[in-house]
Amino acid sequence: MDKKMIKYSVLWLHFYCVVCSDLPTICPNIISKSGWNGLPATHQDYVKIPVENIIIHHTVSEECYSLEECATSLRNIQSFHMDELEFHDMGYNFLIGSDGNVYEGAGWHKIAAHTRGYNSRSLGIAFVGNFSSKVPSEKMLNALRKFLECGVKLGEIDQEYKLFGGRQVSATSSPGAKLFKEIKTWPHFTNSP
Ligand SMILES: *[C@@H]1O[C@H](CO)[C@@H](O)[C@H](O)[C@H]1NC(C)=O
Repeated sequence: MDKKMIKYSVLWLHFYCVVCSDLPTICPNIISKSGWNGLPATHQDYVKIPVENIIIHHTVSEECYSLEECATSLRNIQSFHMDELEFHDMGYNFLIGSDGNVYEGAGWHKIAAHTRGYNSRSLGIAFVGNFSSKVPSEKMLNALRKFLECGVKLGEIDQEYKLFGGRQVSATSSPGAKLFKEIKTWPHFTNSP
């Protein structure tokens, strides 16, 4: 190799590593399904990416403050969804724990079962807890912000995505009055899903 070639190779490698090392800092810590001992889906359908709608929910269950607590909580929610409601997987695409972690539910580009009529063109994200009279902690809200930014960078979420609450499109109080008030202040929030 001549000097010029070496120089370009080094430059290219440097550029590549800047790009590749960017993702971990953009993406929050996402605990995979195997990380919380979740069950595999019994069936899978795929959404078209990038996804245009982000629907926020709350689980109306106890908050969880550690990986261990959240894993137990998520397994219970998944059992309820699969055994009682006969969903093919955890009903939400992702969940956020009070430990500040994002948890993989049905996951990226999968059709989940959180909002009838919208599942095939949205990602459903649930905050673990009851946020009717309490706002999620800043740690949880930051995890969601980072998650959305990461999803856009990965090409999973449309840059012009619309964000709204479950209650705007179905007969539920989800994501809870306090959390709903909070998301109304966010940049991509829409009043007309
Ligand atoms: C959720 O919180 C609200 C307000 O504190 C309460 O009225 C409601 O019963 C709670 N829901 C459940 C299922 O615990």
